[in-house]
Amino acid sequence: MTSAPYVATLKDSTAVFKEDIFKGKILFCTGGGSGICKGMTEAMMRHGADAVIVGRKLDRLTQTANELSATTGRICIAAQADVRQPRMLKEAVEKTIAQFGKIDFVICGAAGNFLAPISGLSENAFKTVMEIDTLGTYNTIKATIAHVRRSKGSYIHVSATLHYKATPYQAHVSSAKAAVDALSAVLAVEEGPHGVRSNVIAPGPIGSTEGMQRLSSIAEGGVSRLPLGRVGDIQDVANATVFLFSEAASYITGQTVVVDGAMEHMRDFQLPYPQAVLDPGSVQKMIPGKL
Ligand code: COA
Repeated sequence: MTSAPYVATLKDSTAVFKEDIFKGKILFCTGGGSGICKGMTEAMMRHGADAVIVGRKLDRLTQTANELSATTGRICIAAQADVRQPRMLKEAVEKTIAQFGKIDFVICGAAGNFLAPISGLSENAFKTVMEIDTLGTYNTIKATIAHVRRSKGSYIHVSATLHYKATPYQAHVSSAKAAVDALSAVLAVEEGPHGVRSNVIAPGPIGSTEGMQRLSSIAEGGVSRLPLGRVGDIQDVANATVFLFSEAASYITGQTVVVDGAMEHMRDFQLPYPQAVLDPGSVQKMIPGKL
């Protein structure tokens, strides 16, 4: 007799961690205007932190900042910056210091992605993703490190699991995220003696994100074969964020926390293989262009 597969519970972090653990703390989050990083920011605010969210589109950032302030009762402000521009990041940091006087936590989350084979990637396309993900992370670290040292704070870098195995159509993102992982590890070793921690969160496929929406036609129907019975939720990543920034994780640094319900261990390429490589036109309808 077979029993029904288990489906992992999904809890808000406030059901597990005290609501005031980040009271008086300041979070600086790139990419916080939407998606996973917005969820990470909201969770930190629900535990008492105030936040600055950084991104390219001021109207979307401002809307998100107002929404997060209203739903959490904490302060969230928007700072416009393209993470490829060190000067803009410096100004965003100055705005943070003018408002709050310090930075305790940094989430390096701004990222860019689209599906394309190497043969269809221009030099500029590859460079653009490397610049947003890798150089953007480096620039964010450089702009914030003096403040994070002062507060003996902590970094979380949002990476991926794509590069643990070769993922066709993702050469640019895989390269960029591998570099982010390396950067975080070096940061942990160099800054540990200053009291600063640095960790990576590597989400697997997360429902209701842009990336999953792009792959939705491919991902449909496979939930029953997932080890924990469901795809990941933004809340799962947010919960890991709360733990890693909390003092309960004070001896955890230089690590990657994979939030994917063990999907990495049974991952197949999500496009038909090798048809997708031999005849890119055959999967074109599954890969919407720029969102
Ligand atoms: N396939 C192949 N190349 C693509 C592409 C695709 N689907 N989308 C963009 N590119 C190429 C562009 O053609 C350009 O190269 P070119 O100058 O040789 O033509 C290069 O990438 C830069 O693109 P552009 O849109 O001009 O850069 P940008 O800085 O304005 O934006 C992104 C870069 C990655 C943010 C943008 O492509 C995008 O909006 N992506 C989808 C949304 C997204 O990434 N959200 C984040 C999810 S993690």
